[in-house]
Amino acid sequence: MKMYLFRAGMIASALVFSPAAFAGDDIEEGRNTYTEFCVGCHGKDMANPGLAFDLRTFPKGDEARFRKSVLNGKGGGMPAWQDKLTDEDLKVLWAYVVSGG
Ligand code: HEC
Repeated sequence: MKMYLFRAGMIASALVFSPAAFAGDDIEEGRNTYTEFCVGCHGKDMANPGLAFDLRTFPKGDEARFRKSVLNGKGGGMPAWQDKLTDEDLKVLWAYVVSGG
């Protein structure tokens, strides 16, 4: 019985604490991926995007649009990334964009 309660406690704390911890890591990972693939057009820290989209203004509730634009490209200037980025890359890039840079 004691063992059971101890385990339940472990599971409960993992559920409570891990999302925040993952989010911080995701943002860092996203920053690295962004610096590798996106910074050339969208600018350092998403500032100074020049003719590309200012990602700091991207609607933070619209992950579906983000994924679609990044996977398929957009207009004449935004390349399609579907052959180069994994699902994990997309997830952390989105965490970075939502963080605001
Ligand atoms: C070769 C330059 C270039 C690179 C590299 C690039 N982008 Fe873009 N991106 C653009 C341009 C130009 C636009 C504006 C496209 C338009 O609206 O016509 C854009 C638009 C976007 C948009 C907005 C699309 C929308 O829904 O309106 C997102 C999101 C985006 N880029 C994300 C990324 C991410 C993430 C990366 C790195 C994986 C990246 N871009 C790399 C040039 C680039």
